[in-house]
Amino acid sequence: MAIQPLKVGVIGVGGIAATHMPGWAASPYTTVVAGADTSPEALALWGKRWEVERLYTDSLAIIEDPDIDIIDICTPSMFHAPLAVAALNNGKHVICEKPLAPTPDEIRQMIAARDRSGKLLMTAQHHRYSPQGMALKAEVDKGALGDVYHARAWYLRRNNVPNGPGFLLKSRSGGGACIDIGVHALDTALWLMGSPTPVSVTGIARNALSKLPGAWSPWAGGSEIMPEMDVEELAVGFVRFANGATMMLEFSWMLNGPHNEDLQVWLYGTAGGCHYPKAELYTSTNQPRQQYDITLQYLPQVLGPHAVECMAFAEAVFTGKPSPVPAEQSLAVQIILDSIYTSAETGREVRLDE
Ligand SMILES: NC(=O)c1ccc[n+]([C@@H]2O[C@H](COP(=O)([O-])OP(=O)(O)OC[C@H]3O[C@@H](n4cnc5c(N)ncnc54)[C@H](O)[C@@H]3O)[C@@H](O)[C@H]2O)c1
Repeated sequence: MAIQPLKVGVIGVGGIAATHMPGWAASPYTTVVAGADTSPEALALWGKRWEVERLYTDSLAIIEDPDIDIIDICTPSMFHAPLAVAALNNGKHVICEKPLAPTPDEIRQMIAARDRSGKLLMTAQHHRYSPQGMALKAEVDKGALGDVYHARAWYLRRNNVPNGPGFLLKSRSGGGACIDIGVHALDTALWLMGSPTPVSVTGIARNALSKLPGAWSPWAGGSEIMPEMDVEELAVGFVRFANGATMMLEFSWMLNGPHNEDLQVWLYGTAGGCHYPKAELYTSTNQPRQQYDITLQYLPQVLGPHAVECMAFAEAVFTGKPSPVPAEQSLAVQIILDSIYTSAETGREVRLDE
């Protein structure tokens, strides 16, 4: 029997939406039937490129379209929560770009809407769908690391400040490097660790380089950094978990170090450690006294992880499985990131278990 594909509507047809389209096309369960964007120009270009004819400049109109099953939210982050809640209220399944929302309270509203609707809500955390991530997760879940008692996660850019108001104004983005790219490293670390419960967070968030005269970013061809920037270029955090584990976090858009786009996650356990994205395991035995390393082998993906995450969501919706990236896990991520900001403001540790 031929599959009746689920119909997908994409909201916000900019940069990241283009990485989702090959996944919707490759999935046997979906077909993209509509797009929405506040920019008619962006919408027209996207419609032509992907041969989609139903185009809306009003996002509520696509959400109310009865001929759509899945809404794919790829707008700037400040619109994620209102659009997702409206879509869930209209009986759509929702996949939403990261961060699921800039604040924990907005995510709680999304979870409430999901529970009222009975539909699926997934965060597009594509590192979970990289071949290295999937290979490591399989080993960690089999117990390769024993009890994981410490982790380090960082996402450090030497200079790649996303130099636009959607990222640099707190009213639009909710925060800086911490929320924008920290979300990737933290989500990957928590997921690999098996989602332990955080109980306290301390941290700082600051600017130094971006406020120097002539500070610039190579973003979009290069320009001076908007002087109105009121979010952080650097955030640092320390987290304790209910199971006794700890985690150190570092996120920067600008930092005088050697590497750009340096995302690393290290987990340390009683039986071994691991590194993402190298997909390496480090272990040792006391009898005999031996240390050894394993590099996991994996085949390259035909489609990228952004596409694979959409395929996973399509399959979950079609077959009635749970959301592949539950919103509760994104809530835990956002609570930690939000607590870094609170700790930075108060100069104190934030307790999450009181
Ligand atoms: N997973 C990743 O690695 C990754 C990478 C980049 C961006 N993102 C996330 O994707 C989202 C979008 O980022 P982007 O880089 O694609 O931005 P973008 O600016 O390239 O595209 C966003 C699009 O949304 C449209 N838009 C803005 N407000 C809208 C609204 N209210 N309704 C409908 N359309 C609206 C804009 O006109 C634009 O076409 C952000 O949440 C960002 O955090 C994720």
